[in-house]
Amino acid sequence: MKQITVVGVGYVGLVTAAAFSDLGNRVVALDISEEKIEGLRRGEMPIYEPGLEELVRRNVEAGRLTFTTTYEEALDEDSEFAFICVGTPSGVDGEADLKYVEASAKSIAEHMQAPLIVINKSTVPVGTGDWVAGIIKASQPKPIDFSVVSCPEFLREGSAIPDFMRPHRTVLGSMDREAADKVAQLHLPLRAPIVITNLRTAEMIKYASNAFLATKISFINEIANICEALGADVKEVAAGMGFDDRIGPHFLNAGLGYGGSCFPKDVKALAFMAEEMGIEPTILNSVMSTNETRRPLVVERVKEMLGGDLSGKTIGLLGLAFKPNTDDMRDAPSVDIAEGLIAGGATVRGYDPVSMEVASPMMPGVEMVDNPYDLAKGSDALVVATEWNEFKNLDLESIKASMKQPVIFDGRNIYDPDKMQMDGFVYRGLGRGYNGNGSNGMTIQEQDVETA
Ligand code: UDX
Repeated sequence: MKQITVVGVGYVGLVTAAAFSDLGNRVVALDISEEKIEGLRRGEMPIYEPGLEELVRRNVEAGRLTFTTTYEEALDEDSEFAFICVGTPSGVDGEADLKYVEASAKSIAEHMQAPLIVINKSTVPVGTGDWVAGIIKASQPKPIDFSVVSCPEFLREGSAIPDFMRPHRTVLGSMDREAADKVAQLHLPLRAPIVITNLRTAEMIKYASNAFLATKISFINEIANICEALGADVKEVAAGMGFDDRIGPHFLNAGLGYGGSCFPKDVKALAFMAEEMGIEPTILNSVMSTNETRRPLVVERVKEMLGGDLSGKTIGLLGLAFKPNTDDMRDAPSVDIAEGLIAGGATVRGYDPVSMEVASPMMPGVEMVDNPYDLAKGSDALVVATEWNEFKNLDLESIKASMKQPVIFDGRNIYDPDKMQMDGFVYRGLGRGYNGNGSNGMTIQEQDVETA
């Protein structure tokens, strides 16, 4: 049984600790937050992530997973691996703030008892692995062998456990091939391709992957604007594009643009790294500027739908979290959209199945409501801000009957424009250009390739 230490029990660390213990390893998860660790010891999760509570409970009961706030407990002579999974928020200029990585590396160096492989799982700028190695070397009270390996995370919030257990690939980077091979052994049970390269290349694979996904999103959002002007339906355009396996069907959902704790900071950090090296990141800059247009666009569109004036209107936000299946409100579009609507004189109310407790202090001007039907009562408009599944089959008849005006702005394109029109709603999505006479509706005939 391998002995693993995980530093940081946030969205990445807690999933990593629980998953590695589920694979049969002995894992000690450390966090400096007493509150988080005490809660975990009581079986309370510090974050909402589908399946996490059960995964943690099962492995704590099996004695494979424990929690601590002290490095003395987290590292002993049996420790073989230490994963750094702390936050790397954006700094003032967009560069990644590495203060938590630095503190973790120093504490690991001061408390390690035996040779150790230190693994950067946090998303860190290219070159950080070398920097962490320098910190450890300088902080050890006495020299003990160690290696640094980059093992970037590719976990999406809301599907972090399946993403961990069935990764598209594991990426490892190190100047010490033997250390990388040992970390590869940990990942063998996941039965996915394991890419082993050098530190800087592994760090860059992470940034380039996230930046490319963000680019796909800004691309389809620009196509949505053009579709709207030309009368095409961007959802059907994306579906038609996606059959080309060089493009693929994923990450082509036009909407409010990307938010969350990763894409915004990672694209900014990569652009910052480029500029630091005197390279103009023209594509990355346009990805960011396109993304920044989406939230004000929604406020403008809702204002248009309400006759050009938001003052005195009541607007309900369907969904608040930055994406479904999470309570994470970091850089959630709903926050900026609410601010814009309130600035225009509207009263804004919000409902989210999971994130309202987290959202409430971030949206003081927004009244939280218990369910979509109470949200609709007396509303002049509803705005779909997060594509929770439960919004896809609402009883729209009763929603319409209780609204002051049957106006719906579908920021995530979850409804069918023709059906909404026929049901008597004043409906707009993003990029849903259509001729409005019900003739839309893409058909796809799956051909049996053998006989085609
Ligand atoms: C992302 C990466 O997917 C993951 O690999 C990385 O490790 C962390 O960052 P996450 O931010 O949790 O994961 O969510 P993701 O599902 O990627 O969505 C990111 C943002 O893009 C969300 O705001 C989402 O609403 C938006 N998005 C996503 C779109 O607007 N359109 C899409 O088609 C997909």
